[in-house]
Amino acid sequence: MKKSNSKIWGGRFSISTDQIMEEFNSSIQFDKILYIEDIEGSIAHSEMLSKQNIISKNDLGLIKSGLKQIKSEISNNEFNFSVKLEDIHMNIENRLIEIIGDAGKKLHTARSRNDQVATDIKLWLRKKIDQIELNLKSLQQILIEKSEAYYDLLMPGYTHLQVGQPVTFGHHLLAYVEMLGRDRGRLTDCRKRLNELPLGSAALAGTSYPIDRHFVAQKLNFSKPTENSMDAVSDRDFAIEFMSASSLISIHLSRLAEELIIWSSDSFNFVKLPESYTTGSSIMPQKRNPDAAELIRAKPGRIFGNLFSLMTVLKGLPMTYGKDMQEDKEPLFDTAKTIESCIITMEGMIKSLEPNPDKMMEALQNGYPTATDLADYLVTELKIPFRDAHHFTGQVVLLAEKKKSGLEKLTIEEIQTIIPKAKMNLLDVLKIESSVSKRTSYGGTAPDNVLQAIKKAKERFLKD
Ligand code: ARG
Repeated sequence: MKKSNSKIWGGRFSISTDQIMEEFNSSIQFDKILYIEDIEGSIAHSEMLSKQNIISKNDLGLIKSGLKQIKSEISNNEFNFSVKLEDIHMNIENRLIEIIGDAGKKLHTARSRNDQVATDIKLWLRKKIDQIELNLKSLQQILIEKSEAYYDLLMPGYTHLQVGQPVTFGHHLLAYVEMLGRDRGRLTDCRKRLNELPLGSAALAGTSYPIDRHFVAQKLNFSKPTENSMDAVSDRDFAIEFMSASSLISIHLSRLAEELIIWSSDSFNFVKLPESYTTGSSIMPQKRNPDAAELIRAKPGRIFGNLFSLMTVLKGLPMTYGKDMQEDKEPLFDTAKTIESCIITMEGMIKSLEPNPDKMMEALQNGYPTATDLADYLVTELKIPFRDAHHFTGQVVLLAEKKKSGLEKLTIEEIQTIIPKAKMNLLDVLKIESSVSKRTSYGGTAPDNVLQAIKKAKERFLKD
């Protein structure tokens, strides 16, 4: 038989592909990282083909040993990837035929690259999701440990980046444990939804071979085969879901990163970032720059970009597979890699983060954070309506400001010039410690609450 185009699919072509087209069309440069999943999928597929008597046991044996050899060739950097063979699927298939001959030509029976690539990406992403979830869990663990060490360390709690009310450092850190918990939930959801096997949908319409998709699903640990062959080969929702879950993770990490940057700035000096996660300036010798935190603050840029890039590729795409979909990989791979490195880096930074209690207290005292407590006291003890209480409290703050002192440094006589009925017990209310320890409402910052919350967080997030 005469062949005029040497490609695997070259039968109906009379001239060869232009080199520019070859480069442009190929994905091997980036999809080679799917080789393990591609081989895993091919093994399960060929086992099914043999079980269904579509290929012989002998062929199955050859295919499996050939694929095993290819896996080790790629792992050992001994594999010769070729742009001419376009992608990882055809590079492997071609090599298989080189190694085992005709039996290798039977592997692609009853499948297409369309269902194959969807399966490979799902297998790959499933592993990544599991890994990222573990990374998040271990970041949560570090945050919980820090919260435990500083469950009663007082610091200003902010709204509008203005001192609002005192909180504990432990309470503040636990806020991030909650965010990361929701992030993990989103990943789990995404994993559950993606866990349906596309393989066996073939090009788009299913196949006339007597295949057993349930068998392959089971072999590859999918919960079931997909229900609709057309949907199966064109669905990349799972990648978008993952990238949007990752966007939220990156948002959360960037907020924490920004706080670390603010807290470690000279003006705040609330925390010392570990030296191992900061850099020096090439010109200003005194500097210690929070580069790691700044990068984590910046990474949502590319993570959102990746999400938007894939959403844009898919919008308006007619059923079913279009080559457009090859553009799914680079953004997806980049997002997984980026988010993983952000989480790991954040963990490293938090692990050796050292708070500076004196500076936190100084900022608290300068911020009149017990003003709300004073207003509440006037309402409950002196039966002053809240709006008036708010007004009187404002005047007391003004007085402290004039004296350049914290609220708790004011004497009762001074306060009585504004609130004549004020009694000695009012002074307790102005103490920062007492303000915090009274915030005992569910989810509040009182140190005893924080201890309870830590215990619960361990149960909720760190079990198994
Ligand atoms: N390299 C392709 C991709 O990543 C594989 C699927 C190709 N299918 C096709 N019909 N050309 O999307």
